[in-house]
Amino acid sequence: MRTQVGIIGAGPAGLLLSHLLHLRGISSVVLERRSREYVERRVRAGVLEQGTVDTLVEAGVGERLLREGLPHSGIELRYGGAGHRIPFEKLVPGRAITVYGQQEVVKDLIAARLAAGGDIRFDVDDVAVHSLEDAPYVTFGGQRLDCDVIAGCDGFHGISRPAVPDGVLTAYEREYPFAWLGILARVAPSAEELIYAQTERGFALHSMRSPEISRFYLQVPAGEDLAAWPDERIWAELKTRLETVPGFTLATGEIFEKGITPLRSFVTEPMQYGRLFLAGDAAHIVPPTGAKGMNLAVADVRVLTDALARFYADGSTEPLDGYSAACLKRVWRAQHFSWWMTTLLHTFDSDDAYARRLQTSYLDYVTSSEAAATTLAENYVGLPYDAPV
Ligand code: FAD
Ligand code: DHB
Repeated sequence: MRTQVGIIGAGPAGLLLSHLLHLRGISSVVLERRSREYVERRVRAGVLEQGTVDTLVEAGVGERLLREGLPHSGIELRYGGAGHRIPFEKLVPGRAITVYGQQEVVKDLIAARLAAGGDIRFDVDDVAVHSLEDAPYVTFGGQRLDCDVIAGCDGFHGISRPAVPDGVLTAYEREYPFAWLGILARVAPSAEELIYAQTERGFALHSMRSPEISRFYLQVPAGEDLAAWPDERIWAELKTRLETVPGFTLATGEIFEKGITPLRSFVTEPMQYGRLFLAGDAAHIVPPTGAKGMNLAVADVRVLTDALARFYADGSTEPLDGYSAACLKRVWRAQHFSWWMTTLLHTFDSDDAYARRLQTSYLDYVTSSEAAATTLAENYVGLPYDAPV
């Protein structure tokens, strides 16, 4: 079997790449180790930057997103007994975020690929990449896929990054001493906008998916066991961390999804080797506090699509050679923003009283200075793709 671009992984990165390449007349095959049902149900991100929304709409896969997505023009930072709104409409006019579940993006992309006759193989076993320097090919389930280029879009635990010979890639990494316990509940959101709450007991986030479904996250210790968190404990802790301003009551309901995610920062440099190009979580991970992971995956894939389009148009390898450098500026900006939001809002057991005072001082600054609030706002909604950062 032969295709132009072999894509490992049917997450947002792999699926969007396959779709964007198709729009440029470039063929691809997507190999995914999980079932279609599994990837369509995997609950993860929810915040789409303006540029991500524009990319999906321009690519013709934004119809349901525009209909069902929830546009937001601000977030609340809640700490010290008060809520403080960061008004995007004032600080970054014309730019906003849209709340729309990642699994809905995945469903829309799969539907679009299949409608266009796209080739996505689910449930494939033993995917391996070979001969990355010149004539790359992928083997899976006893078959062989020859291609010009391989896109490693297989997430942090995939096989693509580890296939690069030792000594080529450098990893930059930081682990945090806490994780996020995330839930979905059948209850109307208790607020119209997202609430990022900092308390002495730890961070809590109130988000949503629809007028009937709310999404919450709680900071819990790293390595925490989900079994230690029966529903009553989750609601009690969410109430303690969120009901900290006068007049706010958290509505509760049936919890139908629960999961724990470790928090990690990770970047590999470069994001390519020979004919293998890494995109999305395969190349970098951010802690979710800044809501950047899926948005970065989209940004990578835009760069890779343009580079591949040039390669097939006139044989030029320059944009492909520069792929990693073109992505890494944005990647590092998002790394810093995600680390900064995490540090600003979480409780570190190792913090002494001095460190806690610094945290409060920065929260006070961000919520009172227009310059500081604009820094948060422009990073949160996403810097323009051509920003010189
Ligand atoms: P993935 O979604 O991980 O997809 C990789 C795919 O590759 C998977 O389908 C996997 O099954 C497949 N795969 C893996 N190994 C193999 C193999 N050997 N062979 C074949 N296939 C393989 N990001 C945001 O932008 N905004 C948010 O609000 C946000 N919130 C988050 C909240 C949580 C709780 C979590 C966990 C993440 C959040 N993120 C957020 C991050 C976001 O979910 C990820 O960055 C995003 O999924 C990255 O997409 P990807 O396609 O690169 O990787
Ligand atoms: C959601 C996830 C995030 O990581 C975040 O910062 C905000 C919202 C969500 O899943 O809704």
